[in-house]
Amino acid sequence: MATVNTPDSKIVLVTGAAGGIGGATTRRFLDGGWRVAAVDLRASTIAPEDRVLPITADLTDVGQCRSAVDRAAEWGGRLDAVVNSAGVWTEGASADTTEAEFDRVLGVNLKGLYFVTSAAIPHLVATSGCVVNLSSDAGLQGNAGAAVYCASKGGVTLLTKALALELAPQGVRVNAVCPGDVESPMLHGQAETFGGDDRQAYLDRLLAGYPQGARARFVQPAEVAEFIWFLCQPAAAPITGAAMSIDFGLSAGIV
Ligand SMILES: NC(=O)c1ccc[n+]([C@@H]2O[C@H](COP(=O)([O-])OP(=O)(O)OC[C@H]3O[C@@H](n4cnc5c(N)ncnc54)[C@H](O)[C@@H]3O)[C@@H](O)[C@H]2O)c1
Repeated sequence: MATVNTPDSKIVLVTGAAGGIGGATTRRFLDGGWRVAAVDLRASTIAPEDRVLPITADLTDVGQCRSAVDRAAEWGGRLDAVVNSAGVWTEGASADTTEAEFDRVLGVNLKGLYFVTSAAIPHLVATSGCVVNLSSDAGLQGNAGAAVYCASKGGVTLLTKALALELAPQGVRVNAVCPGDVESPMLHGQAETFGGDDRQAYLDRLLAGYPQGARARFVQPAEVAEFIWFLCQPAAAPITGAAMSIDFGLSAGIV
């Protein structure tokens, strides 16, 4: 892939870069002058662009997590941030959950995120870099019918805090962002897969849980990306070990 590589600029590795939040995050960091190693199972769908290296990887495979980080660091000559945005949604009655589905969701959302981060640690120590993990409102509170997804995101929230404590002496910050429902391919895929005949009714039911009432709307991927961008800036130096909601108050309590 022909890319213009400017060795002095910072580099972020974004997983799930072909998706809604990962794509918006890629754009935000490019706008900020960074280079982006764009990792995804579907990296071939990422348009070739200067300062972007698409890397195809199945992050349920630990070997592929490690080689994606190696390729990014080799290309960039450094690694300043990791944004772990690859993820998959599932829902359904726990009595019917298969082992394969449990392993798929935990494999991407938790294991893949952990081993990408693990492989990146030496590079991040070298740059006093940071990690931003995509957790969820479902990583802070239970969602009925989504026990497996909640297990994965609850794991993300707590491993974020544990890693923040572990890596603080080495100057690396680790935070999680916890979005509510984001208007992305994941959300529309959810409605298509689990919404039955009436996808709009599925989406309307989600919005009905928000405190804004008739004013409720979904979070936009660019709004999450802006939050992630801020967390990777020097102004966020005091922020580590945090799991921060961006959800219109969805997880704040009972309406
Ligand atoms: N969309 C929402 O409502 C929402 C809400 C809260 C949290 N999140 C979380 O934010 C993150 C991004 O979500 P999104 O809305 O952008 O979803 P998305 O479906 O648009 O993007 C997810 C990306 O992850 C990639 N991916 C899936 N499995 C992979 C694998 N095995 N290896 C490599 N890449 C893989 C997909 O190809 C896709 O491009 C996810 O972790 C998700 O759980 C999303």
